[in-house]
Amino acid sequence: MGKLVFASTNEGKIKEVCNIFSDTGISIIPMNELGSIPEIEEDGLTFEDNAFKKAKIVFQKFGLPTIADDSGLSIEQLGGRPGVLSARYAGEGCSYSDNNEKVLSELDGLPEPHRAQFITMALFYNGRAVQRAVGKLPGKIIHEYRGTNGFGYDPIFVPDGYELTLAEMTLEEKNRISHRAKAFNELKEILLTTEV
Ligand code: IMP
Repeated sequence: MGKLVFASTNEGKIKEVCNIFSDTGISIIPMNELGSIPEIEEDGLTFEDNAFKKAKIVFQKFGLPTIADDSGLSIEQLGGRPGVLSARYAGEGCSYSDNNEKVLSELDGLPEPHRAQFITMALFYNGRAVQRAVGKLPGKIIHEYRGTNGFGYDPIFVPDGYELTLAEMTLEEKNRISHRAKAFNELKEILLTTEV
């Protein structure tokens, strides 16, 4: 397997995933380098549904083995929400800060700590085989915005074992411990050790 198409247009993710595979001899090709694909709606009920949908559409378009991912934040006291709705929790077209505000207002008055985890499903599809790997980053939500790095829910999320929010960490620090890094590192191991 010399090449893998990555079903993402997110520059940050592309950089991170290229970096993870850089010691393998497998080159990661962002899908935009091969052609354009209309935006894929993430309307599945699970992270796996969404990751598979992305991988399948991109595989069908280019006919090359493809990797994709889907991720989000799951908060215990909210029954796992925002979950697959993480990107648009406060409604279509909402901002990261709208989403953070909605989460914090729903947690208002509930006892702390607000246990939560980021989850990523990373998935490989080549028309025959599917391989999956899940990465989790456990932590808690705090009622305060701290830090300006990262994106999404990073300013209100403190990973277990740390005092800093994800938005107060450097990108390198975050990438060392992130749910996405764990999922793609595991997927890499699976692909390097399994006939697909
Ligand atoms: P995606 O499926 O990886 O694009 O992520 C969906 C949504 O989950 C994002 O728009 C963010 O709101 C949230 N999310 C996923 N990963 C992270 C992260 O590492 N930090 C903060 N928010 C994240």
